[in-house]
Amino acid sequence: MKKVAVIPGDGIGPEVIGAALDVIEKAAPKTFEFESVAMGGNAIDKYGEPLPAESLRICQNADATLLGAVGGPKWDNQPPELRPERGLLGVRKGLGVFANIRPAKIFAPLASACPLRKDIAEKGIDFVIIRELTGGIYFGKHEAFTTPDGEKAARDVMEYTEHEIRRIAHVAFKTAMGRRKIVTSIDKANILTVSRLWREVVEDVAKEYPEVKLNHLYVDNASMQLIRVPNEFDVIVTENTFGDILSDEASQIVGSIGMIPSASLGEGNQGLYEPIHGSAPDIAGQDKANPIGTILAGAMMLRYSFGMTNEADRIEHAVDEVLKDGLRTPDIFTEGTKLITGSKMRDEIISRL
Ligand code: IPM
Ligand code: MG
Repeated sequence: MKKVAVIPGDGIGPEVIGAALDVIEKAAPKTFEFESVAMGGNAIDKYGEPLPAESLRICQNADATLLGAVGGPKWDNQPPELRPERGLLGVRKGLGVFANIRPAKIFAPLASACPLRKDIAEKGIDFVIIRELTGGIYFGKHEAFTTPDGEKAARDVMEYTEHEIRRIAHVAFKTAMGRRKIVTSIDKANILTVSRLWREVVEDVAKEYPEVKLNHLYVDNASMQLIRVPNEFDVIVTENTFGDILSDEASQIVGSIGMIPSASLGEGNQGLYEPIHGSAPDIAGQDKANPIGTILAGAMMLRYSFGMTNEADRIEHAVDEVLKDGLRTPDIFTEGTKLITGSKMRDEIISRL
């Protein structure tokens, strides 16, 4: 049996994870041993910390980790080092998964849920964001302090080393080689020293991939171009914070944040798989959450960590089919389609496997 650590998390996390596990079990029966792990707000409540050492150990010893979502208003007033999000960062760092792959693809049946003009959407949208995940401001020094004048101040440090940039650039170029061979590196090199190093290293790595066309965009311009000409993007590579922001933008371009899965990979095959959405506490427990992002994250896990291409294809195909049949959770509902619950969505996907 292959070992998968499962982090249901908080809010809608347990619902969408439950759906994904059922789908995986149907697509690949009796292949995986799932071990549920406490992390996030639930771990704070139970153990007083967002990422107990035992939880991380289980993830590190598993072949892959599947995660729902963490966080919620209940823990908003926790000190920073005891917030649920710290647990998430701890898992990412602890697993060494520096490359976060977030595909943004318009599902044809969902074209009407795309908020962009029809003539833009019709050109097709299919790009992937490769977000650096274990560096930058997220992991730099965080400090609140008082100035000599007695004023409150704070700082968060953005820092990247050459090897951190080099390895994520390789992931981007390799990904592009299997696609349309265009890499867009996004930075703020007109202002940030980190971005100038980023650009220099990405250009150096590009020399090893002469077939790939490399463009650079400033992040402000990129956020505009993503809406203006999304069809021109193939592979985007960017640092942690820019990737966080741009991937939320991308999710709306393709219809809903509930649809996008992500894979976070390190040097080996071990990976962390999660939807890109948050814990949506406002709809938790109401059977409204769209499980597709997590189900597709499960498919990515089968593909990247276990080489189970066939099973992954079947899950993705089943998702396409339910969408073609007009079935929609509230987040992707438009007139003329059929509104269903999250658990019904799970059942409909399973019945098409
Ligand atoms: C994401 C999320 C996380 C992040 C939060 C929950 C810490 O927004 O995965 O994009 O910022 O990385
Ligand atoms: Mg985010």
